[in-house]
This record gives sequence, structure tokens and C-alpha cells, in this order.
Amino acid sequence: MSKKILANDGIDAQGKALLEKAGFTVITEKVAQESLAAAINDHNYVGLTVRSATKVRKDVIDACPGLKLIGRGGVGMDNIDVDYARGKGIAVVNTPAASSHSVAELVFAHLFNSVRFLYDSNRQMPANGDTQFDALKKKYAKGIELKGKTIGIVGFGRIGQSVAKIALGCGMKVLAFDPYVTQARLDLDIEGASQRVYVDLATVPFERLLAESDFITLHVPGGKSITKKEIAQMKNGVILVNAARGGVIDEADLIEALSSGKVAHAGLDVFENEPTPNKALLSHPKISLTPHIGAATEEAQERIGIELAEKIISALS
Ligand SMILES: NC(=O)c1ccc[n+]([C@@H]2O[C@H](COP(=O)([O-])OP(=O)(O)OC[C@H]3O[C@@H](n4cnc5c(N)ncnc54)[C@H](O)[C@@H]3O)[C@@H](O)[C@H]2O)c1
Repeated sequence: MSKKILANDGIDAQGKALLEKAGFTVITEKVAQESLAAAINDHNYVGLTVRSATKVRKDVIDACPGLKLIGRGGVGMDNIDVDYARGKGIAVVNTPAASSHSVAELVFAHLFNSVRFLYDSNRQMPANGDTQFDALKKKYAKGIELKGKTIGIVGFGRIGQSVAKIALGCGMKVLAFDPYVTQARLDLDIEGASQRVYVDLATVPFERLLAESDFITLHVPGGKSITKKEIAQMKNGVILVNAARGGVIDEADLIEALSSGKVAHAGLDVFENEPTPNKALLSHPKISLTPHIGAATEEAQERIGIELAEKIISALS
């Protein structure tokens, strides 16, 4: 009998096809959270894959003795009791590398958005573009280029390094800070040829990054990296981006710094209290906003599906 996998938050078609080719049956019909354990037991699912929506807590793990694997399509596993599951002999896998480039591109979407005021222009033009065209043209006249500016990258893991590659391609100077990385080797893909660049982190203490960067983007696992204390050490008119975890930039301190002009703009993909972020952030006129869509590209979802399928096949075959 074929092994059955419940992909409760969906799985990309290529990942599903790989699993089916390896002899698994994949069910993608969503089961409500409260019915999850019963569905797993009734249908003898040996594997459960989730994104961020479905929670796999102790109660589900305890109730499903036949479950052999939990797969997370994506990086963060806050929605899974990972150690508890592993302690019960259940394999827990995720796909940490698959979405890095997509998140990095979103960082640049926010940066380009900010330096040319697109997020505000896109709000104002539909409402007032026909009556106040010249006034809006003047309002957005003082754009700047990314080229030649310094980007500070805090956290130089998978996404931080992907951001650096794009930044170098844009002609930016890169300053990176990571307490666990002293030097990184980046292989830039230029028309199929690889160009090797070394980024030296040993000479960049956090204070130097804060003081010298025109743009600062956060790619740390969590915690609170930026509060009013760090903001005070930054250049006037700095632009900040957070596509890591909600609260890595203190939200109240950010609003204060945007309102005073110390921080010129911010780009936020992640928020404290998702899915009900602070209204003051959502309505702030100097913030470019996206609802946690860093990994939400067709390419990333395809890579996630394939990586997840390969890990499931390797663990359960
Ligand atoms: N917006 C999205 O949709 C989205 C998608 C994927 C990942 N993420 C988030 O992006 C973040 C980075 O992901 P990643 O895949 O690059 O992780 P990673 O583990 O590859 O890199 C994180 C890096 O941060 C460094 N670090 C840890 N503490 C630090 C500190 N205090 N200061 C500076 N650096 C520190 C680590 O040494 C590591 O190199 C995570 O928070 C992840 O949850 C967001």
C-alpha cells in the first residue's frame, strides 16, 4: 500500500509529482486545525506537510502515533513543536535555502519603492493624479539612486548573502555584520559566468555598519536588533528594511524615528502580531508595506516543493 502524505497547506505541483513518482499518495485537501489529528489517523497519513498556517503542536503529535514525518515548506518552524516531535522519533524537515533569492528581491522592491516614493505615489495618483499632477510631481522630485550608496546587511546567512549579491550588481557598497561570520565568499552569476567576490566582515563592527550605511536591512533569525539606541547611531535619513521577523526593528521606536525624520522611509514585510499588525504602522505615510510575502514567488514555491519532496522521499523511503 502506498504511503500517504497530507499536504495540508498545499505543495507545488512539481514537488507533488516527485512524491507520486516515488510511490507516495499526496492529498492536498485542507483539513481544519481542529480535525487534523482525526484526519491523520482515519486516513493513515505517515507524513504531514505544512507552511505557516497549520499548527503541529504536542496535542496533534500525541494523538497521531502513526505520523512519521512533519515537513515545513519554508524556513521558520514556530508553528511546529519540533523538539517534542523529534523526541518521539518523528522526522521534522524544512526547506531553508529555497526562498532566499525571492526574499532578497523583495528587499530591493522595497528599496526601489522607497527611494522613488513609489509606495506613496501609488496611493496618491489614483486619488489625486488628475487634479494635482504637478504638485505630486514636485513632491516626488527628490529621489535618489541606489548606485554608489552603502547598504548595511545585518545577519549574513542565506538571505543576507543573496541581498549582497543584488546590491553588488546594483553598484552599491556592502557592509555586513554577523557575529558568527568573519568572511563570506559570494559567487555572482553574470550571464552564466560566475564572478567570485569576498566580503570581509571582520573589519565591520555593528557600530560602523550603523554609522556608515545609507540603507540597513535585517536578516537575523529573530530578537530585537534595532531600537531607538541603534537608530540614534545611524545617518540622518537612513532607510530601513525588515523582511526577517516582526519586531526585529522595534515598531514603536521606528514610528517615532520616521515621524522625526531620522529614518526617511522603511520597508516592512513582517510585523509583530501578524495577522493583525499595528494600524499605526499600516497607515504611516513613510512605510512601504507587504503582508509577509518574501517567499511568495512561483520560483520559490517550486523550489520549496521540490526540496520538501526530496527530503520526504529520503526520510520515508
Ligand atoms: N519575509 C519572509 O517571507 C521570509 C522568508 C524566509 C525567511 N525569512 C526570515 O529571514 C531571516 C533570515 O533567514 P536566513 O535563511 O537568511 O537565515 P540564516 O540562518 O541563513 O541566516 C541568519 C544569520 O543571522 C546571523 N545572526 C544571528 N544573530 C545575529 C545577530 N544578533 N546579529 C547579526 N547577525 C546575527 C546568523 O549567524 C546567520 O548567519 C529569518 O528570520 C527568517 O525567518 C523571512
